[in-house]
Amino acid sequence: MLKTLLSASLAASAFAFVHPGLLHTTEDLARVKGHVDKAEEPWNTAWKLLTSNSHAQSTYQASPQEVVYRGSDGTHSQNYPRLYNDVHAAYQLAIRWHVEGAEEYANASINILNAWANTLTAIGGNSDMFLAAGIYGYQMANAAELMRDYSGWDAAAQDKLKTMFVDIFYPLNYRFLTTHNDQDEYHYWANWDFCNLAAIMAFGVFTDNQTMYNWGRDYFLHGDGRGAINNFIYHNFTEEGTGKRLAQGQEAGRDQGHATLDFALLGAIMQMGYNQGEDLYAVMDNSGLAAAEYVAKYNTGYDVPYTWYNSYMGNQTVISENARYTHRPGFERIYAHYADIKGLDASWTKLYRDEVNGNSTDSVEGGGGNYGGNSGGYDDLGYGTLLYRLKA
Ligand SMILES: *[C@@H]1O[C@H](CO)[C@@H](O)[C@H](O)[C@H]1NC(C)=O
Ligand SMILES: *[C@@H]1O[C@H](CO)[C@@H](O)[C@H](O)[C@H]1NC(C)=O
Ligand SMILES: *[C@@H]1O[C@H](CO)[C@@H](O)[C@H](O)[C@H]1NC(C)=O
Ligand SMILES: *[C@@H]1O[C@H](CO)[C@@H](O)[C@H](O)[C@H]1NC(C)=O
Ligand SMILES: *[C@@H]1O[C@H](CO)[C@@H](O)[C@H](O)[C@H]1NC(C)=O
Repeated sequence: MLKTLLSASLAASAFAFVHPGLLHTTEDLARVKGHVDKAEEPWNTAWKLLTSNSHAQSTYQASPQEVVYRGSDGTHSQNYPRLYNDVHAAYQLAIRWHVEGAEEYANASINILNAWANTLTAIGGNSDMFLAAGIYGYQMANAAELMRDYSGWDAAAQDKLKTMFVDIFYPLNYRFLTTHNDQDEYHYWANWDFCNLAAIMAFGVFTDNQTMYNWGRDYFLHGDGRGAINNFIYHNFTEEGTGKRLAQGQEAGRDQGHATLDFALLGAIMQMGYNQGEDLYAVMDNSGLAAAEYVAKYNTGYDVPYTWYNSYMGNQTVISENARYTHRPGFERIYAHYADIKGLDASWTKLYRDEVNGNSTDSVEGGGGNYGGNSGGYDDLGYGTLLYRLKA
């Protein structure tokens, strides 16, 4: 699989897009609905957490902005929380529509998407605008992808949203990955590349543009920046006793908030590729797993080996203790794939997943709105226990 994916033959091969085919397929949505209909645990508890979220209500009101600002440009105040709240609402409502089938949720979801498509003209701020274009871009495309088959969402409105993605978000994603904001490709940490290439892949699928999707996927496989998988994996270690591979990720020396953020984004990239029939989880001998095991082991209180590396902040001489034990969603997806689909040892990922879940009152993974109001709580669409868990 590694060889297949890294070979030129795959890049040249044509394939029709699967829809819905970003984070969730039709089959996934049917599985979730089956668990909810039968009130099976832990899905039922996770479902209740979702349906009690203020973002997941049909009365939710969008607050579209003409210009979204992330990062201070010295003039405008930052208003990007409006965008991430609305994006998570559109996504949570889309999930409700698929599970409950009630039109009120479908309408509420597309009304949010349409409101932005009709209002947004630009994304600004400082260099953080690239994070907004990446993170909220790929997330919004996910909400839209779930709604594309709703008969009440007409083609003209969908086209308007596609135009917004292609004309407003995509140019920033592409510019970032090709110029890195006029810095060398080592300057930016991996998560900046990850979110921007995730957005390009997601826009490619939602707009049925294979050139676009392939470009994002190829960047992931062998791009120049730190978010190309071979650059992200900085060093491989063999765990004593088990012999399993633990891979040090590119942000291990920075802080654990970002080191774990990488896996929310990496997991989304791998899942979107997988759902399009390309096993990005398997790339470089399951590097996503080896790296998740490393970060999960460290953030559950165990020592991991470490090798220094240079970054634009200088020599990262030791693994960072900063924000160690941080809790964020995203590890349900990684565990479900590697352990339950592939049958691989993902024990540290499971431990971390359970610690994150244990921090919610219900012991399930939450989503936007369940991890505080700051942007970090909206970096992953979440609800992984409901949406990805395969075994109780
Ligand atoms: C959903 O929107 C459609 C089109 O505007 C409308 O006909 C339908 O009544 C709405 N459904 C609900 C439950 O509001
Ligand atoms: C697909 O995206 C590429 C950019 O990646 C663009 O050049 C091309 O015009 C797009 N194709 C269509 C049919 O929109
Ligand atoms: C880590 O291991 C993978 C899988 O064997 C390999 O493809 C990759 O090149 C290794 N990375 C480093 C930095 O040694
Ligand atoms: C970085 O720090 C490590 C650990 O202190 C040291 O061994 C290494 O030589 C340093 N590298 C550079 C390029 O300064
Ligand atoms: C749970 O997470 C919140 C937000 O990250 C944090 O403030 C709190 O200390 C955590 N609680 C436990 C028991 O870990």
